[in-house]
Amino acid sequence: MNGKSVREQVLATALSMNSLGLNQGSSGNVSARDGRGFWITPTALPYDRCTPDDLVWLDWSGQGRGRRKPSSEWRMHADIYRTYPEAGGILHAHSLYCTTLACLERPITAFHYMVALAGGDSIRCAPYAAFGSQALSDAAVAALRDRSAALLAHHGMICHAADLDRALALAVEVETLARMYLQALAVTEPPVLSAAAMAEALSRFSDYRP
Ligand code: 13P
Repeated sequence: MNGKSVREQVLATALSMNSLGLNQGSSGNVSARDGRGFWITPTALPYDRCTPDDLVWLDWSGQGRGRRKPSSEWRMHADIYRTYPEAGGILHAHSLYCTTLACLERPITAFHYMVALAGGDSIRCAPYAAFGSQALSDAAVAALRDRSAALLAHHGMICHAADLDRALALAVEVETLARMYLQALAVTEPPVLSAAAMAEALSRFSDYRP
């Protein structure tokens, strides 16, 4: 996203998340780290009605500037940035397949080696807590330990990456895995790869770049 300001990148990612079918309406939220805080999408405003001036900058305690109210999930974004210094961008979506699994309170197992893309041998499902609550933030931070993606029970999914392009690409991969996992579950509980196979996949991903 060369040449775009951070807030333009956040808005572009939110629009892409919806146009790619990963999210709908004003559900979900997107942010990017910037200095001693982060830019985040405003609450309850459909992204196709947002301009970059509607984005809100907040510091880690939720103090900030902007003409709009920040996303109700600002605590979850702030706590992820504070806990995981490698996070440069965060995307939270109500994508159909991840959310279906989340409604079943099911993590994604090591049924496919691509699960390692999110950092381990499963993509956890954080327990339910009300949207916008500190309890949800705490649950998300815990589910993201050694992982870059997690499901949120009866809610959706969340992921982070070094930048928003990578976070969006990761969200597409996780949603695809969720879809494949649900298709497999419709036949039977799929077998899982061994710990050794997943460790090898993780090690190969550490060197997977153009
Ligand atoms: P916001 O519109 O406040 O970002 O909330 C959407 C959402 O998905 C809450 O989890």
